Amino acid sequence: MYYPDEIVEEVRSRNDIVDVINGYVGLKRKGNTYTACCPFHNEKTPSFHVSREKQMYHCFGCGAGGNVFTFLMEYEHYSFPEAVKYLADRAGMELPEQKLSGEEKQKESRKVQLREVNKSAAAYYHYLLTKTERGKKGLEYFRKRGLSYETIQRFGLGYADFGPNGLYQYLKQKNYPDDLMRDAGLIEFDEKRGPHDRFWNRVMVPILDINGKVVAFGGRVLGDAKPKYLNTKETEIFDKSHMLFALHLARRSRRRGMILCEGYMDVIAMHQAGFDNATASLGTAFTIGQANLIKRYTKEVYLAYDSDEAGVNAALKAIGILRSIGLSQRVINLKPYKDPDELIQGAGKEAFEERIRDAVPGLMFEIEQMRKAYNLNDPEGKTEFLHNVARKLAMLTDAVARNSYIETVSRQYMLDAGILKATVTQYGLSGDYETVPPPPEPDRKKPTGSLTQQGLLLTWLANRPELFRKLDGIISEKDFTEGDCFVVAEALFEQYRTTGKVNPAAIVNRFDDVDKQSIAAGMLQTELPFETSDEEMVRAVTDVVRKIKLESVERELSDNQDPKRFPELIRKKQELLKLHISL
Ligand code: UTP
Ligand code: MN
Repeated sequence: MYYPDEIVEEVRSRNDIVDVINGYVGLKRKGNTYTACCPFHNEKTPSFHVSREKQMYHCFGCGAGGNVFTFLMEYEHYSFPEAVKYLADRAGMELPEQKLSGEEKQKESRKVQLREVNKSAAAYYHYLLTKTERGKKGLEYFRKRGLSYETIQRFGLGYADFGPNGLYQYLKQKNYPDDLMRDAGLIEFDEKRGPHDRFWNRVMVPILDINGKVVAFGGRVLGDAKPKYLNTKETEIFDKSHMLFALHLARRSRRRGMILCEGYMDVIAMHQAGFDNATASLGTAFTIGQANLIKRYTKEVYLAYDSDEAGVNAALKAIGILRSIGLSQRVINLKPYKDPDELIQGAGKEAFEERIRDAVPGLMFEIEQMRKAYNLNDPEGKTEFLHNVARKLAMLTDAVARNSYIETVSRQYMLDAGILKATVTQYGLSGDYETVPPPPEPDRKKPTGSLTQQGLLLTWLANRPELFRKLDGIISEKDFTEGDCFVVAEALFEQYRTTGKVNPAAIVNRFDDVDKQSIAAGMLQTELPFETSDEEMVRAVTDVVRKIKLESVERELSDNQDPKRFPELIRKKQELLKLHISL
């Protein structure tokens, strides 16, 4: 599905963002901006801003942001083409017709067939489990683990027989072609042994996609053999990093937020106990793709990862991922139990409900894990810990939240609140804090913090276009090297060069997924969250420009093989140290 840029831009310009958003949340006018309580996270004081001038929205609390399309994609869970279509209708515009190509149609029907053969397999396994003598072993296993018959039905659980090819025979008799069974990952074809089932003598957990269609299986051994779980390999309809177990149920839950855990059995046990907002990744680490799926339905995630070391590390990673896309995170303490399943079996559902109530914010969990590396009785250990804590807290853009964290943390770890506050501000003003987690493959040459600094400068440029003139000859789009900053910078400089103005909302559409759009919008809309005087602002701008420039020169120095250019680069470096920008 694809609409030409001009059409998209026309649709956008015919739908004023203030009017559109006002139809969903009541906006209050405050000068040039309109505010409301953010519809994307829970809050009592309005930090959701909509700008008529920029045709963008941004929430200073949760980081949601974008243009009118992004808003509908987040609020109504529309896809981009759906948002375009909706707004075109709203403005009374006709859109050019979209047609699936022959190839696209063929692919679609193959997927339908793959889902069908999976559905038949699930029916076969479920029948074996519930209706046959041979399946009694499996039924007994589930019973021992405390699953009711109702739960077995609800999750469509099953049993795979001993036989080498029971499922193959069954599917054959239903006239499914061999290549379809193979491509669905159900049957393996081996020259010597012939066709044989992938799953043997295991209890079977079907994995359903967001629409409730079976696309894969996880099979568990009944005893202690290895591997404990065998899963379907990735197929055309089974992309592990963009799916979550039981999400089709969790998304309909009336409970608050979603619970994310590690295992199938954990999810099943939680649902049985009434926590039907539980979901899990599929035997691999939690990914940003999965986080984005969750974001369509809720902004709050409770982590119920195993209480062992691997679980703690996995939780820390998940916190970073969730935060990077503006989801709130809380961590459920399961100790002394190993996982949610064991806690519920051992202590009951009321106990689990209590643990949910006591879950700690991701940031507190991170700080607690951080503390383990220091001896707080040693002055140096304590200093280092305080610096690291301050650096972490500096990423909080909401002043109220920041202050309440400073208070709690200083009480809990016996740090001086005044000193902690001053240190947090110091890190905040220098832009030396994390806003998004480091890219998956860290580039050794780039110091951390660059992303924040480049983002800050982009924001200032968008807010005060007169800075372009002041920075002419000092900085250009080429200096923006971090992630998506370059794309935003390039567009912004180009707009200024050709029109003398900036149009932030049009830049957002250069990114095709909604999360990148939010990131881009954030780069252009975040105000410096620290109370600053003009003098401090001048210093901050100078500082950031200098840091970005220095990095650029340093990069040139290390990449450059021509010694004749050294003096020039070194001179540039020295000049930068003297740089002063007046506003
Ligand atoms: P765990 O080893 O924590 O097991 O695996 P569990 O969920 O507690 O399982 P039970 O209670 O012993 O049955 C967590 C998840 O990791 C994946 C599965 O998705 C499992 O649910 N896993 C684990 C595998 O894919 N393969 C394995 O061999 C083990
Ligand atoms: Mn378990």
